Amino acid sequence: MRQGERLRIDVTNGLDEETTVHWHGLRLPNAMDGVAYLTQVPIAPGETFTYEFDAIDAGTFWYHPHQRSFEQVGRGLYGPLVIEEPNPPQVDRDVTWVLDDWRLNRNGTISDDFAGPMDMSHAGRLGNTVTINGQVSGDFGVRQGERIRLRLINVANARFFALDFGGLGLRVIALDGQPVEPHTPPDGVVVLGPAMRADVMLDCPAAPRTRAQVVDRAYRDNEYRLLDVVYGDTALRDGPPDWDIALPDNPLAEPNVAAAQRHEILFTGGMMGAMVQRDLGLEPSRGMMGGMMTGGGMWFVNGVAAEGPMLDPFLTLERGKSHVLEMTNATAFSHPIHLHGHSFRVLSRDGKPTAYREWQDTVLIAPRERVEIALVADNPGDWMFHCHILEHQAAGMIGVIRVA
Ligand code: C2O
Ligand code: CU
Repeated sequence: MRQGERLRIDVTNGLDEETTVHWHGLRLPNAMDGVAYLTQVPIAPGETFTYEFDAIDAGTFWYHPHQRSFEQVGRGLYGPLVIEEPNPPQVDRDVTWVLDDWRLNRNGTISDDFAGPMDMSHAGRLGNTVTINGQVSGDFGVRQGERIRLRLINVANARFFALDFGGLGLRVIALDGQPVEPHTPPDGVVVLGPAMRADVMLDCPAAPRTRAQVVDRAYRDNEYRLLDVVYGDTALRDGPPDWDIALPDNPLAEPNVAAAQRHEILFTGGMMGAMVQRDLGLEPSRGMMGGMMTGGGMWFVNGVAAEGPMLDPFLTLERGKSHVLEMTNATAFSHPIHLHGHSFRVLSRDGKPTAYREWQDTVLIAPRERVEIALVADNPGDWMFHCHILEHQAAGMIGVIRVA
């Protein structure tokens, strides 16, 4: 898609269960957001629903069902959605990598142990096989001096990625589809929680070079080579190009932080969560064990573990005003927290201002961490707010924020 174009998509449900399509990260009218029961009646088997909206923001987005997503996404229902800038920065190649993992049985079929209580109460359902665009490892062919815009999308239910591109020059130019001041991340590693995206500019060295590797360092005891970078015989150019890499801004309203209304959000629950809560001097949350028995609520947003479709907002944001959400993760796990219908600035972590005040739609919060985000609530409607570890979402870590 081109920025400013109107998108019209007929979705026909060929499954034998209900589904929807959610356009992750896009700012669109509430009725087009694709959340079953909240913004639309789910699409029944055999039925068609038409989504239609304008592509306001350029960037790297994706789409996926929002009904039993822990299984529908876990089985591969998703796709990348790229909205191009009218004048994108010049590159030699524009490449998209959709990163996923799969829990495969020994015969190669997908394990059907979705929404198991162990996965739900711990780190989510991790797979045993990682793929890029559906392929297991392999070679990534590049040329000396080549500049590549690489769009990374983590569509895994629960897996984090921490990609180390070795000797390739790397600058992040967008996060979650939104431009960010071009920068090299700490240690040159790009960290993506579930649902998060990054656009990076890769500059392949012009000096003769034969092999390099892309390594995933997300799990310390299990670093592994994701791809071999293979250089072609002929150089494309003998130095990095001097083309501009910065992206034009999207039309996002700038929150007025000083005048913003402030709201606190507390995440609790999960395995070993009681310990963290005790350390932080909080009341222990009830019901986690009950949730384990019933497959229900194990994670809590402001004390509530959602069961069934969530319809009542736990927070209302005054429309058109600036708001700061102060979020505390009083659990023993990291959570990628996603708000629908808006992008927000990440202001601070544990009281320390972030380097780039990056715009995101999904923000990673480490155990015991406090993160402040700011936004202008300019998109009316009831919007989902949840952890994008899909097992956590299914086990209660989800709520509705109303903009009115
Ligand atoms: Cu990627 Cu509630 O969504
Ligand atoms: Cu979570």
